[in-house]
Amino acid sequence: MPRDNKTPLIQKIAKQAYTTFRGLQSSANGDVKVVEDKLNGLISLVTAVRASDVKIAPRKTNSSSGAAELQSPPVTYMHICETEVFSMGVFLLRSGASIPLHDHPGMNGMLKVLYGKVNVRCFDKLEQNLAVTTVPPVFDPPVPPLQMTSVWRAVLRSVVEYSENSGPCLLTPVRDNLHQIYAVDGPAAFLDILAPPYNSDDGRDCHYYKVLQSALEDETDAKGHQEQQGEKGKEEEVWLLEIPQPEDFWCGGESYPGPAVSV
Ligand SMILES: [Fe+2]
Repeated sequence: MPRDNKTPLIQKIAKQAYTTFRGLQSSANGDVKVVEDKLNGLISLVTAVRASDVKIAPRKTNSSSGAAELQSPPVTYMHICETEVFSMGVFLLRSGASIPLHDHPGMNGMLKVLYGKVNVRCFDKLEQNLAVTTVPPVFDPPVPPLQMTSVWRAVLRSVVEYSENSGPCLLTPVRDNLHQIYAVDGPAAFLDILAPPYNSDDGRDCHYYKVLQSALEDETDAKGHQEQQGEKGKEEEVWLLEIPQPEDFWCGGESYPGPAVSV
């Protein structure tokens, strides 16, 4: 097959994502091997993508600490494209910023660092949620006893640090579906592909969670500085409390400067 050096890599990724996830979403009547091959092709393309492919440059560590800095969003999103099959964009995290623990109900996803480093903690729910009026005393901080809350038993699947030289971090509807993302040692950016896209009309709304286990929270404070890929196998059961979107997290919009993408 002749090599296509003219089509921008991000356009190739969009096309491959569309065919891969369209196949995956109808794989009940499709050929699993074909879908697997397409997924591997997508992973190869995404592994190769760098900041320059979407015309962004690594940003400096936040230079000012004035009012403007405090008012600017900790995280911004550059929308690249969205179809009924998938959405694609770039998240940019300021130094020290994080995206709180959240889910992707019924969705697949792929996250690829473009610059900087991110620490990703992946969780999965283990069972149906418990709507409770009182919660076990092990929770720290304690949950108000009369407040109706949703609490989930979950497992911490992995804690991994990614850089631009890492392959993508993958999630599926049943594996690594919830994650928490920290920028480590300065600003960071990553390409994000979700399939199908969030759609609250279709039961795919984003929910936020807090880990209710003091031992793990102590670890979380360390923001994974000592956690490396070697800990991928580590699994720990925790309780998750569903919470509103944290007040210190919001996501601004930025225009995408890279090559136009059409699917
Ligand atoms: Fe996410």
